[in-house]
Amino acid sequence: MGSFPRIIAHRGSPRKAPENTLASFRQAAADGARWVEFDVSLTVDRRTVIFHDDELERTSDGIGLLAEAEFEVIALLDAGSWFGPAFKGEMIPTFEETLELLAALDLGCNIELKTDAGREVELAAVALPIAAACWPEDRPTPLVSSFSRQAVAAAKEILPQWPRGFLIDRLPEDWAELGKTLGLATFNANQKHLTREQVMEVRGAGYGVLAYTVNEPARAEILFGWGVDAIFTDIPDKMVKIFGK
Ligand code: G3P
Ligand code: MG
Repeated sequence: MGSFPRIIAHRGSPRKAPENTLASFRQAAADGARWVEFDVSLTVDRRTVIFHDDELERTSDGIGLLAEAEFEVIALLDAGSWFGPAFKGEMIPTFEETLELLAALDLGCNIELKTDAGREVELAAVALPIAAACWPEDRPTPLVSSFSRQAVAAAKEILPQWPRGFLIDRLPEDWAELGKTLGLATFNANQKHLTREQVMEVRGAGYGVLAYTVNEPARAEILFGWGVDAIFTDIPDKMVKIFGK
């Protein structure tokens, strides 16, 4: 099942700093989080960068699709001004520099493989050797997750000893079979659709249940009461104060 802190900072601390940037991860550490979640995406020339959307527009001054952009273009973008003038010049981080920063900040992490259609296995094949090379062995092993079954299956082949989580909107019918086939540690589920019965059943089968994205303390209280192991939240400072690290 693995061992996780109760509070995982979702894309860093995205209410206080631009999501998925080094500033956001530093802020998450300052907020008291022990782990952060972030999204790893692939540029057209197979470089791994930390970015959530398919399109560049919302969280950077770029245009078009990240998956169609060269890294040298991505590396010049401003990923902070959209959030606020204090963050002007914040870059889209590389996977490597992110892992180095997290280790220096004493933060653990959930690496979400954010795939684009047709490159699910490719993303895992590029990203996971980087993760293995950059992540210090004496730090808690990261959880690798994805909405893509193919990416999680590739993670099992490439880095079998690292725990895997399968991201879901709703618990699929074949979850038990999937858990075995993919050798899962966790199901990372949309909290909106999660039920107490599901949490009990999935945990009873030996898997962790992580819930995204929980920004209401009252909802977190209910989920933890059902046995949810950890929540992803946009307000790590508040959640850590209420529920501990
Ligand atoms: O990994 C939890 C959560 O980040 C999944 O959804 O869209 O925020 O990446 P999303
Ligand atoms: Mg994510």
